[in-house]
Amino acid sequence: KRPNLTLTEQGLSMSGVALSDIAAECGTPCWVIDATFLRKRYRLLKATMQATGLDIALHYAMKANSHLAVLSLLATEGAGMDIVSIGEFEKALHSGVPPAKMIFSGVGKTHQELTLAVSHAIGQINIESAEELEMLAEVCTHLQKKVPIALRVNPDVDAQTHAKITTGKAENKFGIAFDDALALYAKAQAHPYLEPLGFACHIGSQITNMAPFNVAFERLAGLVRAAREQNLTVKTLDCGGGVGISYRLEEEGSISSLAACLSQHFSGLDVKISLEPGRWLIGPCGVLLSTIIRKKKTSLTTFLIIDAAMNDLLRPSLYEAWHGILPLRTAAFSQPQEHVAVVGPVCESGDTFSSDRVLPHLQPDDQIAILDTGAYGAVMSSTYNARPLATQVMIENGQWSVITPRLPLSALWERETIPFTETET
Ligand code: LLP
Repeated sequence: KRPNLTLTEQGLSMSGVALSDIAAECGTPCWVIDATFLRKRYRLLKATMQATGLDIALHYAMKANSHLAVLSLLATEGAGMDIVSIGEFEKALHSGVPPAKMIFSGVGKTHQELTLAVSHAIGQINIESAEELEMLAEVCTHLQKKVPIALRVNPDVDAQTHAKITTGKAENKFGIAFDDALALYAKAQAHPYLEPLGFACHIGSQITNMAPFNVAFERLAGLVRAAREQNLTVKTLDCGGGVGISYRLEEEGSISSLAACLSQHFSGLDVKISLEPGRWLIGPCGVLLSTIIRKKKTSLTTFLIIDAAMNDLLRPSLYEAWHGILPLRTAAFSQPQEHVAVVGPVCESGDTFSSDRVLPHLQPDDQIAILDTGAYGAVMSSTYNARPLATQVMIENGQWSVITPRLPLSALWERETIPFTETET
């Protein structure tokens, strides 16, 4: 299931590098990203989409992992970026992505963000409401610059994923209701500074069953036909991201099924397509290394208290997400197994990676890898409990390199000032 992870004499290894070497040199917690595997997955996705014969562009959803080294790798491979903020815009630019290859998504773009995007001639802005369209029209008129847009529609599809990451249902804050889309599109088309290219849709994340895509794409294709019947020009469809990975027992979302689904609904429709994959590309390419601080036995539970916490990897606390856990030492794999709760040191009961996990007997100072943390891992970290952001490492071609050093402790307070202190006269 995880072809880049192998067990060697040196212990658990990622694309030829012993993870314990990294932990020994960098300390823990430490994020590791496998660039070799990421490149492979990107190329596989690209080839699978090319094989459809459709014109499909990939715009990496950089919210999943926006490290400059990741962005520049994907930019070099030819990816565009799906961005959601000024910060993401600047980071994408900094890593060599031209604005023309960026799509600006998000439900709450500010006046300042829209201005920046239009001034830089961004490739496409996905509009999420009539109110946003109005603000953009004003910005473009003021700047006297035309901008390509897509209307993000809400197809009211249940993506059958976690409630906190489903986005395509009518009650969600995202997108424009299908019934309102054509009137708004016509309004945009009539505006001298707006250039509607087509529609966008993103129904949710961690979708492993392709059925919801089928429903959404069928609705999108219907919308294109309806628009054209009204003499509206539709050139592109942005089909969003959302393909899931295998965290536990679920099958990884099948990109060939996605390709087949795109072909079924869009071949013959003469539209350019863009996809915004995040998790599928990079989720399986990362692990979080951690050390067991203490093994605490109570009458009910054996706790493994580890040095990574919810401030590092938030997903288990926030979504009750399941992440695989493997020891780094080869010998540990042959230990008898036991039920343990794997928890972090933060002062909250929610700081739990797993409340009941079967693992081989491990001891303090043993190290573990928490799997599939490449997406929505480091990017969602905080410094809660005054814990510094962890080191990040990248592996490529059998070598590894620190790509972000651990945040120095002084950085936890150096931007803070103490006002109103009494001064002695
Ligand atoms: N496009 C749009 C407009 C999005 O909102 C998202 C993700 C994506 C693309 C990429 O979706 P992906 O291919 O990665 O599923 N923090 C959550 C996931 C939030 C996803 C938000 N939107 C998690 O850890 O599961």
